[in-house]
Amino acid sequence: MPLEPKDSLLCELLQLARDLARSAGAIQRDRFETDLKLDTKSAPIDLVTEVDRACEALIVEGIQAARADDAILAEEGHGDDKADAKIRWIIDPLDGTVNFAHGFPRFCVSIGIEIEGLRSVGVVYDPLLNECFEAARGEGAWLGPRRLRVSEEDELGRALIATGFAYDVHDSENDNLAAFRNVIKVARGIRRDGSAALDLCYVASSRLDAYWELKLHPWDVAAGYLIVEEAGGRISDFGDGPPDRSGREVVATNGSLHQELLKQL
Ligand code: IPD
Ligand code: CA
Ligand code: CA
Repeated sequence: MPLEPKDSLLCELLQLARDLARSAGAIQRDRFETDLKLDTKSAPIDLVTEVDRACEALIVEGIQAARADDAILAEEGHGDDKADAKIRWIIDPLDGTVNFAHGFPRFCVSIGIEIEGLRSVGVVYDPLLNECFEAARGEGAWLGPRRLRVSEEDELGRALIATGFAYDVHDSENDNLAAFRNVIKVARGIRRDGSAALDLCYVASSRLDAYWELKLHPWDVAAGYLIVEEAGGRISDFGDGPPDRSGREVVATNGSLHQELLKQL
């Protein structure tokens, strides 16, 4: 049985998020490996395509049609982030745009929902694998009928760990390379697959043992944080403080590896 929260509000929000993520994912599947119009944003390597914008418009219009009072923070700016709304949607319409633009098959739709400031629903949909990662507060993290659980690995030397690099990597000295060097010397392997939301879901589903990254944004992590937490994982900033909702410092692990990874960062 797929996730079906007992609480009726959680159930309604999850169903809407799931439907919108799947509809946006269908656009991505249709447009994958077709001619795309590319623009750049914060740096020459920070891309946006017409598909990012079309997916965001579809999701935002779908939320507004069903739930006019909710706040929406959306990466490409179509949302309306009302200050005192009870419910806030946080959307990355296409996480992994560089991959998408290159025909590299790893990207997703990420939708997180907060109720009164608490992470409450998370949906991350990978349209090529047709995998929909879902979580609702207190109801676990799920991939279809399978309840997700983080790995039990407690040795960095046997751990598969992911990271990423920010779009200012050409110019910034705070470029994650020192941490990358430390971790690659002790871990079994490192991956840089280019979708933060999927990296978090892979920690939740034990495909990865840990993940860290700097300079992300709220839409990269809003859904993935809840999915990791509901799968029994641990999230902190680099100083072992509470999860950083801005995404500036993200460390997500199975819990057992948390302190050892923090030492390397
Ligand atoms: C990016 C991806 C990537 C991460 C970048 C993000 P985008 O999101 O999640 O893995 O390394 O920092 O900005 O731009 O493809 O939505
Ligand atoms: Ca993103
Ligand atoms: Ca994006």
